[in-house]
Amino acid sequence: MQRVALLGSGFIASVHMEAWKKIDGAEVCAFFEVHPDKALDFQKKHDVPHYDSFRNLLERENVDIVDICLPTFLHREYTEMAANAGKHVFCEKPIALTLDDALAMKDVCVRNGVYLMIGHVLRFWGEYVETKKLLDAGVCGKVRFVEAFRLSVTPVWSVGGWILDPRLSGGASLDLHIHDLDYVNWLLGEPEKVFAQGICSEKGSLDHITTQVQYKNGALAMVQGGWMMQGDFPFTCGFRVVGEKGVLEWTFRAGVNIEERGKANPVVLYREHETRREIQVQAQDPYRAELQYFLNCVERGTPPELGTADQAILALRVALAAQRSALEGSPVIL
Ligand SMILES: NC(=O)c1ccc[n+]([C@@H]2O[C@H](COP(=O)([O-])OP(=O)(O)OC[C@H]3O[C@@H](n4cnc5c(N)ncnc54)[C@H](O)[C@@H]3O)[C@@H](O)[C@H]2O)c1
Repeated sequence: MQRVALLGSGFIASVHMEAWKKIDGAEVCAFFEVHPDKALDFQKKHDVPHYDSFRNLLERENVDIVDICLPTFLHREYTEMAANAGKHVFCEKPIALTLDDALAMKDVCVRNGVYLMIGHVLRFWGEYVETKKLLDAGVCGKVRFVEAFRLSVTPVWSVGGWILDPRLSGGASLDLHIHDLDYVNWLLGEPEKVFAQGICSEKGSLDHITTQVQYKNGALAMVQGGWMMQGDFPFTCGFRVVGEKGVLEWTFRAGVNIEERGKANPVVLYREHETRREIQVQAQDPYRAELQYFLNCVERGTPPELGTADQAILALRVALAAQRSALEGSPVIL
């Protein structure tokens, strides 16, 4: 049984907690939370020992895996503490706010011989995974263009409002947009050039952005992301992949946040001289799938190949280049 320390008890920590409960071979043995009322609520709900100091948790509990669900500006600090204590680290995306921090996280895990995996959850999300498989199998031929998008209302529910401060979260152009930037990297390979245009919200945060990424193989991606939607606008994401022999398309609309992610909508394949084909993807909780995958890596002693530090660092490089491009008004060569 692998023992997991969960850091944070906010939105995504609750999603992880529910996922860990359904995973055989692992148990959350303790959680860390600095806000007393949040800690109390979480403890009541899940009946897991609470610590308000991660150092004390590490001293007193026998932990194998640390699952970091803290605000992004804390990812480096807690990864360093966990890795230096010899624990494997699963950390939510984005890996960090700066390349220096991200490289330091990779380095400390390598030095301590522990695994680091970043929660780039689209690599485990049914429709995104199925699409990657279909493209690898050649159903669309050579892929020339990918459009991907992710839109939501402003996430006012973050604890203390950290997510609305671009110095702590990077804004939507980093926090939200990075999901799709990582996905298009997964499909298209090595990015070469980035050109972006965006809009700042009242806080001066680039919270709606359109990023064009030119890949070394000649393909182009157009990625849109933002959390400036209003009212009841449902969480919306999707993609359109244009290949030389076919097109794959998928759109998803959930509740205000991702809690209704179970709602299914088929991926549709269009090819010349064929009627449209709907591909139903079996529903699975992608958060459970990514944690199960990391657990398997730890148990088998094989380093993760999905959500690696290098993939997360590449996605961060593209996101930071997009922010620079949008602010300077010119393309950025990677
Ligand atoms: N993969 C996904 O789909 C997804 C979705 C949402 C969030 N995230 C990522 O997960 C991370 C957490 O986001 P969230 O939405 O759960 O945020 P949240 O605000 O809901 O929760 C953050 C947690 O960190 C704690 N915290 C806040 N400030 C702290 C501090 N100074 N020291 C220690 N703990 C502190 C809070 O009490 C809370 O438990 C972020 O990196 C975010 O980008 C990923």
